[in-house]
Amino acid sequence: MSMREKLDRLAVARDAAEQGGGATRLAAQHAKGKLSARERLDVLLDEGSFAELDRFVTSRSTADGETPIYGDGVVTGHGRIEGRTVYVFSQDFTVFGGSLSEAHAAKICKVMDLAVRNGMPIIGLNDSGGARIQEGVVSLGGYADIFLRNTMASGVIPQISAILGPCAGGAVYSPAITDFIYMVRGTSYMFVTGPNVVKTVTHEDVTMEQLGGADTHAGTSGVAHFACDSELACLQQIRDLFRFVPSNNVDAPPRGAGRDPADRRNEALLDIVPDNPNKPYDMHEVIKHVVDDAEFYEVQPDYAGNILVGFAHLGGYSVGIVANQPAVMAGVLDINSSMKAARFVRFCDCFNIPLLTFEDVPGFLPGLAQEHGGIIKHGAKLLYAYCEATVPKLTVITRKAYGGAYDVMSSKHIRGDFNVAWPTAEIAVMGPKGAVEILYRKEIAESDNPTTAAEQRVSEYTEKFANPYIAAAYGYVDDVIDPRDTRPRLIAALETLQGKRDRNPPKKHGNLPL
Ligand code: HXC
Repeated sequence: MSMREKLDRLAVARDAAEQGGGATRLAAQHAKGKLSARERLDVLLDEGSFAELDRFVTSRSTADGETPIYGDGVVTGHGRIEGRTVYVFSQDFTVFGGSLSEAHAAKICKVMDLAVRNGMPIIGLNDSGGARIQEGVVSLGGYADIFLRNTMASGVIPQISAILGPCAGGAVYSPAITDFIYMVRGTSYMFVTGPNVVKTVTHEDVTMEQLGGADTHAGTSGVAHFACDSELACLQQIRDLFRFVPSNNVDAPPRGAGRDPADRRNEALLDIVPDNPNKPYDMHEVIKHVVDDAEFYEVQPDYAGNILVGFAHLGGYSVGIVANQPAVMAGVLDINSSMKAARFVRFCDCFNIPLLTFEDVPGFLPGLAQEHGGIIKHGAKLLYAYCEATVPKLTVITRKAYGGAYDVMSSKHIRGDFNVAWPTAEIAVMGPKGAVEILYRKEIAESDNPTTAAEQRVSEYTEKFANPYIAAAYGYVDDVIDPRDTRPRLIAALETLQGKRDRNPPKKHGNLPL
């Protein structure tokens, strides 16, 4: 056969590989509002940058006489996002429902290994019915091979999962180990077992959406970090993430391209915290006035709204922001917000992203449900994460820093590098009302006018303790600053911290309270 004939044969085989499960199944995929595996990669990656690997791999369990399907239900390779290389796999639901066979798993493992070896992120576009039923235990083994790689890659390269269809069984546990999960409303689902099994086992009637839809996981379970309105929005949001995160745990995070002046003061910051300490305000406002171009890439915006986490640039430096949100449950720390923030802090620490904390926290949430739910161990996760983090840590106390929450929220004592307070800060063991009730209960009860006596004691306590100056006198905050100077002061501090070297003692690994 001549070279030209061989090239023709190659072209036919390539075409066949791109057909996936055929035109009818592809039409069904489109009819559901879903893109094909290859179309998704076209949207995710810079134009023309995708280089495919293993397109001719076929299922190892194809029966005699059966035509093998090239690719075996997953498209793998590498491409670029804003010029930076990423490794990718994109499951093809038109081939056996994107289910995972031995060969399919081997293809995913290959790109995961390359991503780790070359220090590049891995992005998985998941659309899969789980283990390929026809392959039995070999397919289960394939999942375990992937889980092991997810675990080994954790903290070495960013691992991103998009859930773009039904993901059942094993198809959810690999994403669960990765750093960020993106879902799409109306078309993507994650569950260990689907509605039919649930009905049989627990007699509960649930829809796919209720059991494992995007809003369920982004708002209720906290399994997903983002619920997007369409696949296009989802893939674009993943591209945007890479403006903040580095390619691996050694590289520096990417610099922002904004032109917001580093010395920009901001008058609006004077009017955000209300004079009444019990009135809420929106911490988003503070963040937006401080960071470059008011741009905050919020992570888990629909979950545990009493704490905000996300990325921004500050003076061009990428930072991970953790902020109590007084507008939701007064910004209290509870089980869900502690877990949300702890995982985010650990991500930033893995990938050399400095942490910027905005603090206005009345303490941990009291109550039976929280105590029985394990607020002690879950709150300890956030404490542990902050203590363990060796990246530059900056903290701005805008108002309340009460009790244990003062310690937890990146205090000086747990290696905060630059801790400042606004004049509105109240740093104390507890709020004035609670403190007075404990200290002066008897005296107030016995007084002729208990209300006036209590008010008198509250105002004394407020004057004495509910301010930043005692903490400043001990050096627990480095300065009490004019809120208008927050941005320039933080950027100056970040610059001094560029050479920060801090290490934890050598150990196999710590024992995070799980
Ligand atoms: C082989 C599968 C498959 C699977 C779907 N298909 N799941 N083939 N193995 N696991 C095939 C179907 O036969 C069908 O083939 C095509 O994919 C599309 O499936 P449909 O059912 O027609 O699609 P839809 O109605 O959209 O439903 C999608 C689905 C459903 C919700 C994913 O197919 C489903 O429930 N599948 C099984 C899910 C599951 O229980 N998986 C095993 C989990 S156990 P044709 O030829 O008609 O196009 C597991 C163990 C790992 O994963 C544990 C590790 C910890």
